[in-house]
Amino acid sequence: MATFENSSGSNRGVIFSGMRPTGQLHLGNYLGALENWVTLQSDYSCIYCIVDVHALTTIETGEEAAEIQPNIEQMALDWLAAGIDPEESIVFVQSHVPEVMTLHSLLSMVTPLSWLMRVPTLKERVRQGDEPEDSVTDDEFVDPGLVNYGLVGYPVLQTADIILYKADTVPVGQDQVPHLELAREIVRRFNNRFGDTFPEPQAKLTEVPLILGLDGQHKMSKSLDNHIELAASPEETTRRVLTAFTDPQRQRRSDPGRPEVCNVYSLHNIFSPETETRTVFEECVTALRGCVDCKRHLAGSINTYLAELRDKRQEFQRRPGYVREVLAYGAERARVVARRTIEEVYDRMGLVGR
Ligand code: TRP
Ligand code: SF4
Repeated sequence: MATFENSSGSNRGVIFSGMRPTGQLHLGNYLGALENWVTLQSDYSCIYCIVDVHALTTIETGEEAAEIQPNIEQMALDWLAAGIDPEESIVFVQSHVPEVMTLHSLLSMVTPLSWLMRVPTLKERVRQGDEPEDSVTDDEFVDPGLVNYGLVGYPVLQTADIILYKADTVPVGQDQVPHLELAREIVRRFNNRFGDTFPEPQAKLTEVPLILGLDGQHKMSKSLDNHIELAASPEETTRRVLTAFTDPQRQRRSDPGRPEVCNVYSLHNIFSPETETRTVFEECVTALRGCVDCKRHLAGSINTYLAELRDKRQEFQRRPGYVREVLAYGAERARVVARRTIEEVYDRMGLVGR
């Protein structure tokens, strides 16, 4: 068993990041996060967590709760297929390491309510009836009177996730920066009150081009149904790409197009070889290429780009019990670190008799 060393035993930094179990990931999730997580494995000790308890903060029905397990399975398959190595990195499900909830409770004692009330994600969630901002990943809004305690405490649980493993670096998107700021404030306060215990975690911003969805208007997102799932079949991918919006001014096949305002072109830039992208540009502005043809080519490029990931995914999916085994192994390794931290926190906070 490759034992996991946290900051004390190794000079590699410790990365922690998490995703809520939303099911199958799409190209935006891949380019915006997952691809980066894979790369970070060569420079850091990485801990990647499927945060199912966080998912509960916004789940309102038993039917939604029944989706958690299949969603965890699908997300884990995407992670593994993308190249998250469960021997190198610790890959696990949040609720399998219940120590995080202990730490959450204890951290809540050093977190002023006013800090939580000014977190923008919470403010956006309760701002009923407004258009969802791109930064809100989940475009449901909550009646202010019905906001649960768990949702308010969301960033405290997130802080517990990170510092339970004394992670120092947290790869996240811009939308998570306020949560990381809060995590740092909680850590400072804890360390001040009870003695130096936790490193202040740093956000590591993932630099990615904005990936617009097939509507060409909004960030690619599952809730807007403008996405392409990593695990989609090549046929499904082609079918969806053919629905993509293009240059709205290009009404007839004989009209020259404007690739610079067309999202299909920007997707070519990401997924097609450079020579092909140059041809797309030339043939679009001269009306040599029609949009349907252009989209078929794009679908081909995306399918080539994802072929290996999709093969691996199917291979993992065919192995009975594989995902569950991986996650159990990850939880076991995570718990070793988690228990150690909780012991230390108990001691610091005066919960241990002498
Ligand atoms: N809040 C994060 C999101 O919605 C998910 C998350 C939970 C997370 N715990 C974390 C991210 C710890 C980084 C570190 O995307
Ligand atoms: Fe967009 Fe391609 Fe149509 Fe040009 S030819 S407008 S790049 S889809």
